[in-house]
Amino acid sequence: DKGNHRHFMAKEIHEQPEVVGRTLAHYVNFTAGRVEIPFDLPFDFKNLKRVSISACGTAYLAGLVSKYWFERLARIPVEIDVASEFRYREAPLEPGSLALFVSQSGETADTLASLRYASAEKQHILSVVNVATSTMARESDVVAATLAGVEIGVASTKAFTCQLTVLLCLAIAAGRARGTLSAADEKELVDALIGVPGLMSEAIKREHQVEMLARELSKAKDVLYLGRGTSYPLALEGALKLKEISYIHAEGYAAGELKHGPIALIDETMPVIVIAPHDALFEKTVSNMQEVAARGGRIILITDEKGALETDLDTMATIVMPSAHPIVAPIVHAVPVQLLAYHTAVFMGKDVDQPRNLAKSVTVE
Ligand code: M6R
Repeated sequence: DKGNHRHFMAKEIHEQPEVVGRTLAHYVNFTAGRVEIPFDLPFDFKNLKRVSISACGTAYLAGLVSKYWFERLARIPVEIDVASEFRYREAPLEPGSLALFVSQSGETADTLASLRYASAEKQHILSVVNVATSTMARESDVVAATLAGVEIGVASTKAFTCQLTVLLCLAIAAGRARGTLSAADEKELVDALIGVPGLMSEAIKREHQVEMLARELSKAKDVLYLGRGTSYPLALEGALKLKEISYIHAEGYAAGELKHGPIALIDETMPVIVIAPHDALFEKTVSNMQEVAARGGRIILITDEKGALETDLDTMATIVMPSAHPIVAPIVHAVPVQLLAYHTAVFMGKDVDQPRNLAKSVTVE
């Protein structure tokens, strides 16, 4: 049932404040201002030397955001691979380390094969999955459920933001266990997390502006997405969403890589979508935007109130998100990225819920 939405994807984008809130309630003690993981961990984060993450597609990109969180908040080294590479590269894994898998369906062939490899290598297996009865859930030592509900649109949206929510809670729990986060730090992060559903609702209110921009975007042959820090995986996610449902060629790049190649592509026909909340890396991204502008590139900037005030660049458009704590910002900024792909594809008359050549769950390699 699509409710009053035209597509499941639209419904699922709009459901995010609710399902992220529900997922949060499962992992956070709101009154105590702390994360409480609702299951026993068969390992202690304190003793871990590293975490290896593998997943595919959008779930991989949620994992990539969490690498920044685990490393920053818990000072634990994280390795991450797409599962189709991890399963065959015979990575040496120290017994007793943590292998983390992220999957909406819990049935993705490559992710499952990676899980089995890690299990044979005596890793603790922790899976962040949405389907509680899935094969991956059954074969894991512990399951961290995302409570996104059934996701029908082939393009993953609400599962992604719920994965981010769970992964951030795990990174906070790891930080506490490893002594890298004080109770006050944790409280600050938990307060920020509690605000996320409300900020996502605010973000959804920019839909009309995004819809207008989608008309412009639909004329493009190629689109470049740029971001730094946790906005880099979001840039990759934006490009993935756009290509999978609108069939426009799109690429995501770390903004700092611009001058190592992709800047050669920039001209007035290529929209460049820059994701840049006002965080510690904001100034760096602004200088990359100046490089784009100097070459006639047309910029769509996704930033927050402070970021919008502090740039006087001539953009094609600026989408202003509500201000969020920099750690939780990627969960909020995912919304306009999803909406932009959705409205572009709808405007082009594409079948958003069932894009060509794609299956919701990729059970063969
Ligand atoms: O079910 P999974 O999360 O394991 O699926 C992984 C990918 O196949 C999936 O995220 C895919 O990239 C989506 N269609 C992206 O929107």
